[in-house]
Amino acid sequence: MSVSRYRYAIIGTGRPHGTEGATGFGMAHTHYPNFMATQRVDLVAVSDLDQSLAEYFLEKNGAQAKVYCDYKEMLAKEKPEILSICTWPHLHAEMTVAAAEAGVRAIHCEKPMATTWGDAKRMKNAADKHGSLLSFNHQRRHIKLFQAVRKAVVDGEIGDLVMIEAECGDMLDWGTHWLDMMQLYNGDCPIEWVMGQIESHTEKRIFGAFMENQAMVHYKWKNGVRGVFISGEDAKIGCVHRLIGTEGVIEVTSERTMRIRGKGDSQWRHVEVPQGPIGDFALACADVVRQLDEPGYRSVLTADNAIQHTEIIYATYESSRRRGRINLPLTIEDSPLLSMVAAGEIGPDRTK
Ligand SMILES: NC(=O)c1ccc[n+]([C@@H]2O[C@H](COP(=O)([O-])OP(=O)(O)OC[C@H]3O[C@@H](n4cnc5c(N)ncnc54)[C@H](O)[C@@H]3O)[C@@H](O)[C@H]2O)c1
Repeated sequence: MSVSRYRYAIIGTGRPHGTEGATGFGMAHTHYPNFMATQRVDLVAVSDLDQSLAEYFLEKNGAQAKVYCDYKEMLAKEKPEILSICTWPHLHAEMTVAAAEAGVRAIHCEKPMATTWGDAKRMKNAADKHGSLLSFNHQRRHIKLFQAVRKAVVDGEIGDLVMIEAECGDMLDWGTHWLDMMQLYNGDCPIEWVMGQIESHTEKRIFGAFMENQAMVHYKWKNGVRGVFISGEDAKIGCVHRLIGTEGVIEVTSERTMRIRGKGDSQWRHVEVPQGPIGDFALACADVVRQLDEPGYRSVLTADNAIQHTEIIYATYESSRRRGRINLPLTIEDSPLLSMVAAGEIGPDRTK
């Protein structure tokens, strides 16, 4: 029986992290080998504003494909079935919408979703309208340790889940991963309300996107579990993630290790969960391809999942703007962080 091969294309080739001239991590150099490893895709084209970067990408990876500077022309002429979007966050929305309108069957876009809440909704709506399978590269959902934490919760090792806590440097860049893990741990339950505060006093940008200097948010999922997330300077909870249950606690201490003090444990049990032979990026790409092979199958990195934690980010900003609790769904279109900085209400220049 012959198996289908899919026409694959990439927008935003970049240069690998740490190499001369790199402007970021060059995530296309990670997407490409992992999609090729599925042995189910043929690279038909790559697009970068800078043609020399696209040509360098092909040379470095020993690949042959057409090169485009205009990604819309590439979509129209090459009609890819699978597309990687590896550009900076403010470009994700326009590229995802264009790809959905061009009929791309599976769009695998880098995280975070978008730089405004309106853009995040627009992307998901466009994908839904045109029947594109939209996923975001929150590849940590494929890390075995995080999956083991979820299993420990489901197995009742700490009784009933009460609270999940996490910390990291920011909400939108790294926080998008941790808020996504919090969703994973709580079974992707929808969120009821969000109350938060943000602070901005320097122009902090990651992949071009403006970040708060500090944030804290308390939120409630519809199953009654509470979340607390702290970001930025001085954020510290004593571990990476903490899950508190009625009969115990799990502390995630790295992407491979956790400690549990659960039912019947008189002291901490240290648990190591190796990733095994297949990395999280490879599993993410294989999952994207599988969606096309198996009608009805959805990647665990689907936009349906990503949009839930993205709503927490923008609701935290909105809570800070309104000085109050935000009951979801969030009805704004902008990024209150960007709007408040533009208005001089917070941010490096408060003299406006
Ligand atoms: N999943 C992860 O763990 C992870 C890790 C690092 C970065 N990222 C994300 O990956 C995304 C891309 O980051 P990067 O580090 O690969 O960036 P990069 O700077 O290395 O590469 C981006 C490329 O996009 C190109 N580009 C810009 N505008 C374009 C356009 N209109 N058409 C075509 N190409 C265009 C640029 O010329 C550049 O070559 C970001 O959203 C970042 O958050 C994810």
